[in-house]
Amino acid sequence: EQIEKGGYEHFMLKEIFEQPKSIQDTMRGRLLVDEGIIKMAGIWDHLEKFSNAGRIIIIACGTSWHAGLIGEYLIEEFARIPVEVEYASEFRYRNPIITEKDVVIAISQSGETADTMAALKLAKEKGAFIYGICNVVDSSIARITDAGSYTHAGPEIGVASTKAFTAQLTILSLIAIKLGKHNGTLSNVKFVELITELDAIPKKIEEVLESTHDKVKEISKDFINAQNFLYLGRGYNYPSALEGALKLKEISYIHAEGYPAAEMKHGPIALIDENMPIVIIAPKRGHYDKIVSNVQEIKARKGKIIAVVNKGDVQVSAIADYVIEIPDTSECFSPIVAAIPLQLLSYYIAVYRGANVDQPRNLAKSVTVE
Ligand code: G6P
Repeated sequence: EQIEKGGYEHFMLKEIFEQPKSIQDTMRGRLLVDEGIIKMAGIWDHLEKFSNAGRIIIIACGTSWHAGLIGEYLIEEFARIPVEVEYASEFRYRNPIITEKDVVIAISQSGETADTMAALKLAKEKGAFIYGICNVVDSSIARITDAGSYTHAGPEIGVASTKAFTAQLTILSLIAIKLGKHNGTLSNVKFVELITELDAIPKKIEEVLESTHDKVKEISKDFINAQNFLYLGRGYNYPSALEGALKLKEISYIHAEGYPAAEMKHGPIALIDENMPIVIIAPKRGHYDKIVSNVQEIKARKGKIIAVVNKGDVQVSAIADYVIEIPDTSECFSPIVAAIPLQLLSYYIAVYRGANVDQPRNLAKSVTVE
């Protein structure tokens, strides 16, 4: 096992550090920047199905569901196809309206999650076109879907998903951009800008791992006795907040909630005092000014602010108690970059609390029962 961990203390840390490669592997042969094309067999062969879809329904559980939420933002922004994202467990039991014009995308690292599998079977029975985004080759979900794209993240051992999540975001980005190009809802200029930026993401992940690791490790020490955490973000980074909170809950057993920053005033603000750590994801692209006012509201209530901002940030950094800088990227790819310090934060808090990071209590890597 020590050899498999490749010198890292835990699989989770190894997998966090593998992300420049796993994202690169997921894009390999698909994103051809020099030729200006995205080549994905699964989509290529069924472009009309997607383009003519009345809507796309994404079903998933856990971290994969968070990736699905970001997928909704991506597909609606670039391909202008309406998207709904559902927990597989809810979808399967609520007699959902599904038609033959629907495309249903299941996202699953393991490809074995029972609820996701059952929801897909239901959609298939009703005649929808079903598509899979799985990490495990030849898994049950990969086998029953009409088509799909594998994430090539490699085996993920740590129960808390890290590299599979960012690989899912990579696939969803490719799909959204490809469909946008095909549908004519994305200009050529914007297409080139997006693929060039996506191609640069593995380098930026390398950079963010290098530049934030030690700092996040230090910050973590101050929060080992925290009892609650709030994670806030807006737009594309609202799901980042959900995922950040989930990571912390899963492995450190600290209660954490993710919220859209603007919704704070409808409840969570009542919880803020000097004992409440609040992680704010505030890259400069995307509602930055609005986030600044949220941060001011938190400060006025003495909350402890850990801000994830872009390099060179001034406004939020001046107010925050702790600042983690990440490289700038397009707003739509910022969840991929922002995920890294959030993964590291939950990892180190859990390690300092003496938790079993790779196999947290009560959780399973693959949930094959209801
Ligand atoms: C379990 C795992 C999570 C995962 C979820 C969905 O809860 O612990 O890490 O996100 O299942 O799994 P899937 O394999 O369908 O992505």
